[in-house]
Amino acid sequence: MTLFALAEELSIAMAPLHDHYGAWAVVTGASDGIGRAIARQLAADGLNLVLVARRRERLEALGAELSAGCGIEVRPLSIDLALPEGPERLLSATEELEVGLLVAAAGFGSAGRFLDADRESQLAMVDLNCRAVAALAHGFGQRLVARGRGALVLFSSLLAFQGVPLAANYAATKAYVQSLGEGLRHELAPAGVTVLVAAPGPVHTGFAARAAMRLNRAQQPEEVARETLAALARGGTVLPGVLPRLLGCLLRLLPRRARVRLMGSVMAGLVWPREP
Ligand SMILES: NC(=O)c1ccc[n+]([C@@H]2O[C@H](COP(=O)([O-])OP(=O)(O)OC[C@H]3O[C@@H](n4cnc5c(N)ncnc54)[C@H](OP(=O)(O)O)[C@@H]3O)[C@@H](O)[C@H]2O)c1
Repeated sequence: MTLFALAEELSIAMAPLHDHYGAWAVVTGASDGIGRAIARQLAADGLNLVLVARRRERLEALGAELSAGCGIEVRPLSIDLALPEGPERLLSATEELEVGLLVAAAGFGSAGRFLDADRESQLAMVDLNCRAVAALAHGFGQRLVARGRGALVLFSSLLAFQGVPLAANYAATKAYVQSLGEGLRHELAPAGVTVLVAAPGPVHTGFAARAAMRLNRAQQPEEVARETLAALARGGTVLPGVLPRLLGCLLRLLPRRARVRLMGSVMAGLVWPREP
């Protein structure tokens, strides 16, 4: 990294997020978990917010809390991003806004054998975790490049770095996001746009209940949100939390086949009810 690039990164990291990524941030998955925690931290930094998820009442309640508490403007948008028209609806609803930051946190997973799972729900997972992320990264990416600054934040997972028995489809969707983000980071950097991929380990959110998993030693979403936003200026990949970072380093030392087997045994302990 050149001295100029380092100075630029430091000045972005030290300025309030609003100065570099304002005036508007779009947060998907804002009705719960990590997305909601990120929305709260962005609001405290003075960014106006477009809050996206399916559960309208939760978005409206959060919007009312944040606009009263932080004096920002909030637009809650109830959109099912797994539907083919979902991402386009979001892109057209935000056309007139000066969006400087997209946080694409909407996503879900499942635990258990792929062949035992409901097919439609597994395909909806691909639609939400991959198709919607690609459409939004493309649409907002074009706007940020035209503006000459801004950032995309995508959510992969600690499961994204190898195949994972008992979460095979979910891990595959997150491998897609990880790879998309890594490639885009280099494509968009010359235009002044940062791409950050966050790859959390277990986090206490609505995720585990929807995935039928029981998580041990999980982090709080506020902690993940804080570490993710702290890594925004430098981009690349962040593994929030000491334990996930340690696990990530250890996993990298193993051959891929051994990693797959190890992650399969870890997953077997998380599936709820337990695998026979
Ligand atoms: N929690 C973990 O252990 C963990 C670990 C690694 C990675 N991640 C990733 O982190 C991201 C955030 O997950 P989380 O833990 O915060 O999960 P969460 O608490 O279950 O929140 C998921 C969010 O996505 C929204 N969502 C789900 N389906 C949607 C749809 N079809 N259209 C629009 N929005 C939808 C949900 O809102 P509605 O239900 O209101 O639509 C909710 O706001 C996800 O991409 C997840 O894969 C989570």
